[in-house]
Amino acid sequence: MIGFRVDEERCIQCGECEIECPAGIITLEGFPKITDEESCIRCQHCLAVCPTAAISILGKNPDESVALDGNMPDPARLVTLIKGRRTIRRYTPDELPSELIDELLDIACHAPTGVNDRGVLFTVVKDLAVMNSLKQEVMACLTQLKDQGQLPEGFIGQYLGRAVKAWQEEGKDIIFRGAPHLLVTSAPKDAPCPVQDTHIALTTFQLMAHARGVGTVWDGLFMMVISLCPHLVSRLGIPANHTLGYAMAFGTPAVVFHRTVQHGPAQVNVVK
Ligand SMILES: Cc1cc2nc3c(=O)[nH]c(=O)nc-3n(C[C@H](O)[C@H](O)[C@H](O)COP(=O)(O)O)c2cc1C
Ligand code: SF4
Ligand code: SF4
Repeated sequence: MIGFRVDEERCIQCGECEIECPAGIITLEGFPKITDEESCIRCQHCLAVCPTAAISILGKNPDESVALDGNMPDPARLVTLIKGRRTIRRYTPDELPSELIDELLDIACHAPTGVNDRGVLFTVVKDLAVMNSLKQEVMACLTQLKDQGQLPEGFIGQYLGRAVKAWQEEGKDIIFRGAPHLLVTSAPKDAPCPVQDTHIALTTFQLMAHARGVGTVWDGLFMMVISLCPHLVSRLGIPANHTLGYAMAFGTPAVVFHRTVQHGPAQVNVVK
């Protein structure tokens, strides 16, 4: 049940909802009606496009949505956020408030997904004690592989070998960069676009995190660890039928950047 409701006192019969619906299942018979509820992809475009907030769907009250007119961010500040975001490799040990993490995840779950599947699972380490024990488990697995000469040849083995050495000799955490929190995205293997969905969700999380003063690092090293210590997937509680997306460590930065970097120009291939 999608609960499509039209407030006939508000509806001006403009037809925007009929034109906009990507599934083509709204028809104007006087007032809008749904022709095929099963085909609804639950995108809420009908609720969002209605100029008079006449549509409710999936139990959502349109008056509780934020009006877009006058509320979009200033583009120049958005550019500063994009160019000023840096990979954070130094963190304070402090836990972030649980509510702030929840807020960031609730925003990240607004990221687009293929066919609006919305199947991304956000596996998060909120608790510092859990993060510390996860670090111990990661290092135990890596140390065992190293001691048994089972780290792979090439750059993965070199990076992870260095990480074990830094941990053992200096107590330095290169895998998570000392971050107090970890986020791993995954999505059901049979979703239309599981890999893309998980990466877009993390990218969205990252930008909003930095806007709120939370630092992040895409954690490729932890992904390498998972490939060698696959029991960590079930340890994290990620369902076996999920495709792993990526990992991101995060927390309060212990470094201050003072200016944007200056990449570019973009490599562009103009089709003629
Ligand atoms: C897919 C991916 C994996 C990454 N893995 C790591 C990592 O394991 N450890 C790390 O310190 N940085 C990692 N990074 C951060 C990159 O090194 C960083 O984005 C790049 O050097 C540019 O710096 P910036 O993010 O500050 O612009 C990763 C970045 C991406 C996109
Ligand atoms: S939620 Fe999307 S697919 Fe469903 S009726 Fe509204 S616009 Fe159409
Ligand atoms: S978009 Fe809103 S006002 Fe226009 S026809 Fe649909 S319900 Fe009515």
